[in-house]
Amino acid sequence: MEAGFWVESWELGGTKTSFHLNRVHPHALALAEREDLRGARVLVPLCGKTLDMLFLAGHAAEVVGVELVPRAVREFFDDNGLDVVEERPGVFRSGNVVIHCADLFELTAADLGPIDLVYDRASLIAFPEQMRRRYTAKIVELTRPGSRYFLNTLEYRPVLPEPPFAVGPDDVAGYYLDAFDIEHLHDEPKPEHRMVEKFGLDYLTEHGFLLTRR
Ligand SMILES: C[S@@+](CC[C@H](N)C(=O)[O-])C[C@H]1O[C@@H](n2cnc3c(N)ncnc32)[C@H](O)[C@@H]1O
Repeated sequence: MEAGFWVESWELGGTKTSFHLNRVHPHALALAEREDLRGARVLVPLCGKTLDMLFLAGHAAEVVGVELVPRAVREFFDDNGLDVVEERPGVFRSGNVVIHCADLFELTAADLGPIDLVYDRASLIAFPEQMRRRYTAKIVELTRPGSRYFLNTLEYRPVLPEPPFAVGPDDVAGYYLDAFDIEHLHDEPKPEHRMVEKFGLDYLTEHGFLLTRR
């Protein structure tokens, strides 16, 4: 989706930002049980104001979020009562959490620094197919051999024309198998998910993948 869609979503709030959870995502909790976070610089692309960043920051060396909409960045620091400094124009820091208020597609590996792990919840699936290809190319560009990439997706039918878009294991393999080894960690049917009733879905499964860059 284009920038205007997200600016409006953050202005309207309510159901337009129902992707935002008032708790840490269980997949972030599970990730912390592994060794992957220790000493890592973690990139959270399309971070919104997710609480997962604060949680990951408690287990990692540094968390680097990227968020397009200034309001979301402001709300992240305000909601969590964090003191923040703008260390460079558009780059906001509180402790070991840094957020680049920027378009991910405009940033380079030099802007973001070395990334050990990417944490992607509701990010790849925020984009329609055409933009998703651009996003996957950007993730490959921003990672290096040995980087890990935790990817959360939703797979459901019938597919919807708006985010979160349906992305299953075959799609993930299609996007990433050229550059990453892929481990399928979570495969969780979610009949109780809010989208099932709202959109009359036949089924919805939440997936978690851990990719390792070759
Ligand atoms: C579906 S939300 C997911 C937010 C977050 N990952 C979470 O779990 O709550 C997608 C977020 O990406 C932001 N966004 C969309 N396009 C972007 C882009 N090109 N660069 C940076 N952020 C973007 C939106 O403003 C929105 O906050």
